[in-house]
Amino acid sequence: MTAGAGGARRRAGKRHAPGTVGGLISECAARLDEAEVFFGHGTETARDEAAALVFHVLGLDHADAGRAYRRMVPETDRRKVESLLERRISTRHPLPYLTNEAWFAGLPFYVDARVLVPRSPFAELIASRFAPWLEPARVRRILEIGTGSGCIAVALARAFPDSRVVATDISPDALAVAAINVARHAVEKRVELVQADLFRGLKGRFDLIVTNPPYVPEADVATFPPEYGHEPRLALVSGADGMATPARILHHAARFLTPQGWLALEVGAGVGVLEARFPAVPFVWPELLNGGEGIALVSAADLRACLPGPGTQDDQ
Ligand SMILES: C[S@@+](CC[C@H](N)C(=O)[O-])C[C@H]1O[C@@H](n2cnc3c(N)ncnc32)[C@H](O)[C@@H]1O
Repeated sequence: MTAGAGGARRRAGKRHAPGTVGGLISECAARLDEAEVFFGHGTETARDEAAALVFHVLGLDHADAGRAYRRMVPETDRRKVESLLERRISTRHPLPYLTNEAWFAGLPFYVDARVLVPRSPFAELIASRFAPWLEPARVRRILEIGTGSGCIAVALARAFPDSRVVATDISPDALAVAAINVARHAVEKRVELVQADLFRGLKGRFDLIVTNPPYVPEADVATFPPEYGHEPRLALVSGADGMATPARILHHAARFLTPQGWLALEVGAGVGVLEARFPAVPFVWPELLNGGEGIALVSAADLRACLPGPGTQDDQ
C-alpha cells in the first residue's frame, strides 16, 4: 500500500453507497479477489489494491480519504477504472507498472518494468536513521548497491541531509529510471548514479553501505505468482541458494567502509542460509515493525575481523 493510503485503507472495510468512490472500491476489490491476482507489490489485500487503483485514476488524495469515499464517480471515470482493472487482471502486471507510480518511505517514485517495484523494509530503518546503530551526524558518505528505481538512494539522501550518496546498478535501464526519480526529488547534487558491478571501479570509503541485492534462489522463481515474472530477473535471482550476490558484497564491503562504518544488507527470507554460510559473522537483525524481514547489519570492525577481504578490486 502506498505510504499515504492509510486513510483509504481504513475506510475500505465500511459499507459504501453504490455509485460512490467507496462503492466502486468495494466492487473492484471483489473482482480482484475473484480473479485471484497476487498482492505484494505495494499492497497486501484486494481492498488496498482497489483503493490504490481507484484513487490513482480519479486523482484523489489519500490524506482526504474520508470525503473522497463519499464522492459520486462520473461515468467516464468509472470506465477508466474498469479499463485499468481489466488490464491488471488480464496482464497480471503489478499495479505500479500500470500506473507508473510506487510509494516508498512516504515518497512517490516513477516506476516501470525496468526496475523492481519498491517494497523494501529498508524504508523503516531509513526513517529511524538506523538508530541506535548509527550516529547520523557522522554519516557523510553513503553507498547504495543495486539502486533500481533509486528509491532507497533518494530516501537516504533526504534522511541524511548532510550526506552524499553514490548509487550503483549494473543495469543501465534501471539507472535511467533512477535518474528520473533523483531529478523528481531534486537530489541530483547529492546522489551520484554509477553503472557498476557491485563495488567495481568505486573509490574511497563510505560511512554506510545499504543494499537490497537480488537474493532469490534460482529454482524459486518458477513457483512465483505471474506478477513477479514482469520484474527484471536481474533484480531477483542470485544463484542456487540466493546468496551469490549477498556473499560477494559481504566479502568486499570492509574495504569500502570507514572504521566506524556499517553494512546494511537485505536478504529477505534468506536469513537462515546467510547465517549458515557465514557462521562467524555476528549479524544484527533489527526488528521490523512495519513488516518485511531479513535486513542484516554488520559493522566494519566485525567484517574485518571475520572476513579478511580479497586484496584487489579485480577479484570482485
Ligand atoms: C532487489 S533490486 C533492488 C532495487 C531497489 N534498490 C529497491 O530496493 O527497490 C536489486 C537491484 O540490484 C541490481 N543488481 C543486480 N546485480 C547487480 C550487480 N552485480 N551489481 C550492481 N547491481 C546489481 C539489479 O539491477 C536491481 O536493480
